[in-house]
Order: sequence, then structure tokens, then C-alpha cells
Amino acid sequence: MSGVEPVGGSGGGASGAPSQLQEMLERARGALANAHAPYSRFRIGACVRAASGRLYAGCNVENASFPVTQCAENTAIGAMVAAGDRQIVEVVIVTEGAEPCPPCGRCRQQLTEFAGPDMRIYLCGPEGVRVTATLGELLPMAFGPRTLTRPT
Ligand code: THU
Repeated sequence: MSGVEPVGGSGGGASGAPSQLQEMLERARGALANAHAPYSRFRIGACVRAASGRLYAGCNVENASFPVTQCAENTAIGAMVAAGDRQIVEVVIVTEGAEPCPPCGRCRQQLTEFAGPDMRIYLCGPEGVRVTATLGELLPMAFGPRTLTRPT
């Protein structure tokens, strides 16, 4: 993960908006506690902050048909879209594992739909933030909504 930096505190998001990192962590931890992960036993909680300031949390939702599993970020993004928000300015991802848990490739692509390359992603453990990275660092040269622009 080149370019990622460990962080100790909150600080402002790349959007310039004030960070609500502590509240986001609490929301993500709350979602993690409700994760449905009986197969992997790997619980994940996520919280996205929309440009409106509203927070949306989600957890992973596994399925006996394993590929049907839904990631925590996916759950949070779905809640955000259903509530009418469309712009993500910060993301918190919490796990209980020893290593920081970066979002999977599919989740990076889903985040790209609703966030720019400077959007910060905080990878957290039970103790707090372990690593911070931008979406652009995790998914450079992304295929996004602007890629689909057609000639007029
Ligand atoms: N998982 C997520 O929730 N988000 C990710 O970005 C990576 C993986 C979940 C899916 C599955 O329930 C568990 O983690 C183990 O792969």
C-alpha cells in the first residue's frame, strides 16, 4: 500500500469539511457488532460520511451461498443512496483483526461512483485508526462516471 500513512488523530478530511471521525468510528463499531459473518467469522463495520454531513453505517452480511455475501462498505453505501445522498467525503472501516483491513476491489469501485480520488479512508482496529489512505491511492486510474462521458 504505497502512499498510505499511519495517522494518530482525526484532522480535517481532504474535502476540507470538519472530520467527525470519532462519531464515525462509533457508528462503524456499532454496525460491526451486528455483522452477520457466521462463515468467515470476520466481522467488519463501515461508516461513510456524506457531503450533507449525514453518516451511514453498514456491516458485512454473509450468505450460505458464499458469493452472495455483501461487504460492509456496500451496505453503508446502499443506505446512503436510499436516503438520497450521493457524495461521500470520508469512510471509516473497522475490523477486529490484527492487520488494517483495506476495502476489497469491488468496494473501491463502488466508492469511486460516489467519491473523488482525494477522499480519505480510515482503516481502523478496535483501538482506533491504524492507517489512512485516499481513494486515489487505493484505486489509481479508476474507471468512474467520468470515463463514461460520450462525445456530443
Ligand atoms: N468484507 C467486507 O465487508 N469488506 C471488504 O472490503 C472486504 C471483505 C467481508 C466479506 C466477508 O463477509 C468477510 O469480509 C471476509 O471476506
